[in-house]
Amino acid sequence: MDIYICKTCGHLAFEEAPDNCPVCNMPKDAFKSKNNVFVESKEKSPEAEVKHVPSVKVVKTCGLIPEDTCTDVHVRVGEVLHPMTEGHLITFIDCYVNDVYSGRVMFTANSINPAAAFHIKETSGTVRLVERCNIHGYWMTEVEL
Ligand SMILES: [Fe+2]
Repeated sequence: MDIYICKTCGHLAFEEAPDNCPVCNMPKDAFKSKNNVFVESKEKSPEAEVKHVPSVKVVKTCGLIPEDTCTDVHVRVGEVLHPMTEGHLITFIDCYVNDVYSGRVMFTANSINPAAAFHIKETSGTVRLVERCNIHGYWMTEVEL
């Protein structure tokens, strides 16, 4: 799979670079090829996997959006909770639904856990969660709805 990274905001684009980054709006030339982005993280820090691979739970019944179709995707980083300190934190989780980028949750080190809930309008398909650690790089999980 071809992977491109936005040098401004760190967003990953799969298959091809977009005309403009959907997160920060930088033009296509802000993206550079980075096919090994996940392999690199794992090779650099294999012991870090348990604290970085997004741990994902699909909840078919949404409590927040009962009036529309909604599948909840609950994600935490990781199976062993990642630290959230000024020097070492999860900076964002990006969510892709059926290969289309859908949204991002950004984090600081101030009073928040590295966890989020995405309320997906689709009731079937594949959801990809990508997280970035400021020290240990990019990690990904895919789940079926
Ligand atoms: Fe980390």
